[in-house]
Amino acid sequence: MIDELWERRAGLSPADEKATLVVTEALDRLDRGVDRVAGIDPVTDAVVVDERSRRAILLAFRLYALTETHAGPFHFRDRLPLKQRFDGVRLVPGAIARFGAYLAPGSVLMPSFVNVGAYVGAGTMVDTWATVGSCAQIGARVHLSGGVGIGGVLEPEGAVPVVVEDDAFVGSRSIVVEGARVRTGANLGAGTLLTGTTRVVDATTGEDLPRGEAPPWSVCVTAYRQQQFPGGVFGTPCLLVLRRLAPGETPDNLRISELFREHGYAL
Ligand SMILES: CC(C)(COP(=O)(O)OP(=O)(O)OC[C@H]1O[C@@H](n2cnc3c(N)ncnc32)[C@H](O)[C@@H]1OP(=O)(O)O)[C@@H](O)C(=O)NCCC(=O)NCCS
Repeated sequence: MIDELWERRAGLSPADEKATLVVTEALDRLDRGVDRVAGIDPVTDAVVVDERSRRAILLAFRLYALTETHAGPFHFRDRLPLKQRFDGVRLVPGAIARFGAYLAPGSVLMPSFVNVGAYVGAGTMVDTWATVGSCAQIGARVHLSGGVGIGGVLEPEGAVPVVVEDDAFVGSRSIVVEGARVRTGANLGAGTLLTGTTRVVDATTGEDLPRGEAPPWSVCVTAYRQQQFPGGVFGTPCLLVLRRLAPGETPDNLRISELFREHGYAL
């Protein structure tokens, strides 16, 4: 039904109640974590996108009318309603999640924003002013530090959402966008910039690693490569893999995030 609606999307409007019901059901499945916009194929290890779920989200923007809501003195005007399901989730005032985002039990949202189609795994902390963009997939026991910007992707078709895998740490004010992938147990230093095409270099070996990916169980920061351009030599950012960790290892100076989770200091 989503495919059929997609074919005639140009003619859809909020007056089309039947289509709205179909799309709402699809978003509800995302909201409950039954469907996911993207996941990792256990055989190929590639990120696989569920285009149908993503189409459902795009259709919602055609079908849902702008609706006014308010909380106390605050008024909002949006197409998607706010998320209503927070089973087992800690939601600090000021945190906002839209309908169609999934928050696993045990996740904590400090005042932050989680957009439609995003998935936030169990035990994950979305810290103050962090934003999780549409369809971004965040694993379990991840710490997205204050001000982190995880990019969203709804279009074009085939674009891969950002994936942050289990046990990753993303340092304050980092930016992870455009289908970049933070693999299991990777730790990004404060202010790291990772796009889908960012060069990745191993500081120990000098080796070029796959672009746009923080390797598993590693500590990475943004560094600059000197590059010759017609206009001169300029430093362009790259992801420098400072060191590798043993699987399951957390760097000493990032242990505090475990304390946050175990004892709720940040809560
Ligand atoms: C990346 C990080 C974990 C590295 O810590 P570390 O292993 O102790 O390594 P060091 O601090 O000795 O740094 C190693 C080198 O990387 C550089 N570096 C460290 N952090 C960096 C960063 N965020 N960006 C760029 N370079 C960085 C250091 O200057 C140092 O270079 P030097 O050897 O020339 O002096 C740490 O610096 C960091 O950024 N932690 C995240 C903090 C944060 O965001 N907390 C969230 C709030 S709770």
